[in-house]
Amino acid sequence: MPPAAVVSDIALPSTIPESEQTPANAAHSTLFSLSNKTIAITGGGRGLGITLAAAVLEAGGHAACLDILETPSAVEWAALQKTVNLTGLHVSYHQCDITNEEQLSHILDEIAAGGMRLQAPFYGAIACAGIQQKIPAVDYPAADFERILRVNVLGTFLTAKHSARILIESGIKGSVVMVASMSGQVANRGLTCTAYNTSKSAIHQMCRSVAQEWGRYGIRVNTLSPGYIRTAMTDELLAAEPEVEKTWMAGALLGRLGAPEDFKAPAIFLLAPGSSFMTGADLRVDGGHCASA
Ligand SMILES: NC(=O)c1ccc[n+]([C@@H]2O[C@H](COP(=O)([O-])OP(=O)(O)OC[C@H]3O[C@@H](n4cnc5c(N)ncnc54)[C@H](O)[C@@H]3O)[C@@H](O)[C@H]2O)c1
Repeated sequence: MPPAAVVSDIALPSTIPESEQTPANAAHSTLFSLSNKTIAITGGGRGLGITLAAAVLEAGGHAACLDILETPSAVEWAALQKTVNLTGLHVSYHQCDITNEEQLSHILDEIAAGGMRLQAPFYGAIACAGIQQKIPAVDYPAADFERILRVNVLGTFLTAKHSARILIESGIKGSVVMVASMSGQVANRGLTCTAYNTSKSAIHQMCRSVAQEWGRYGIRVNTLSPGYIRTAMTDELLAAEPEVEKTWMAGALLGRLGAPEDFKAPAIFLLAPGSSFMTGADLRVDGGHCASA
C-alpha cells in the first residue's frame, strides 16, 4: 500500500489564488497588544476596574483610572506602580464623577493630551464604574432607582460619548468596552436588584445603538458581561445575606465564583486590534452560569 499523501505532496489548484482583499495568514503581531495606546478606565479606583487597568499595562498600554473615590485602593495602586517602574509605562489617577459631564469630558481631554505627550494616543475606554443596590421591587424608592440608572446608564453613556468624540476628532479607530453584566440578560435568583438589572440591560442596547452610529468612524463598541465576581460590590451583598452564595454556587459550572483576574484577557481581547471585526456584540464571561437552568 502506498504511504498516505502528506500535505506537501498534494497538488493544490493554482487557479484558486489567495484573496487579495483578505489574505489568509496575514501577520498580526499586535493582536493582543495595546502598545503605544492610552486607555481610560472608569471605576478604576478599585475592584474590577483597577484590575483591568493592570491588564492594560500588561498589554503594553498606558492606563488612566477615573473613579469617584478620592484615592484608589492602596494595595492595588502600589502593584500598578510596581509594573510602571518595571516597564516605563504610565498610569494616572483622576477623581471624577462619571455623571458630571463637564468634569468627565475635561478629564478625558486631559488624558488624551497626556497620551499625545507620551506618543501613545488615546485609543479608547473601559466603562467599568457602576453601582448596585438590593431592594425588593415593590419597595424600591424612585429616587434610588433613578440614582442607579444615572450612574450605570448615563455614566456609561457619557464615558462612551466623550471617548468617541476624542477618537473622531483625532481620526483614531479605537475601541470602547462597556462593562455590562449577565444580569442584563437574566434575572439573578435570590437577588432583588431590579434597578441594577434594568440598567445593565440598557447598556446592552446602548452598545448596539452607538456601535451602529460609530462604525463609520471605525470605532468599535462591545459589552463585557461578567457573572458573579468576588469584589467589594458582592462582598456587601453577601455580608447582608450569606445564604445567597449557595444559590450562586449552584449555577457555577466551574465550581467557583469569578475573580477580577478572570476578566483581564476578555477585556484586552475586546479593546485590542485582534477583535477588529467585532462591534455591537456582547462577550459573556460567567463561569457557565447562564448555560444551565
Ligand atoms: N462584582 C460582580 O459580581 C459584578 C458582576 C457583573 C458586573 N459587574 C460590574 O463590574 C463593574 C465593577 O464592579 P465591581 O464589582 O468592581 O464593584 P466596585 O464597587 O468594587 O467598583 C465600582 C467602582 O465604580 C466607582 N463608581 C461608582 N460610582 C461612580 C461614579 N459616579 N463616578 C465614578 N466612579 C464611580 C466606585 O467608586 C468603585 O470604585 C460594575 O459596572 C459592575 O456592575 C460586577
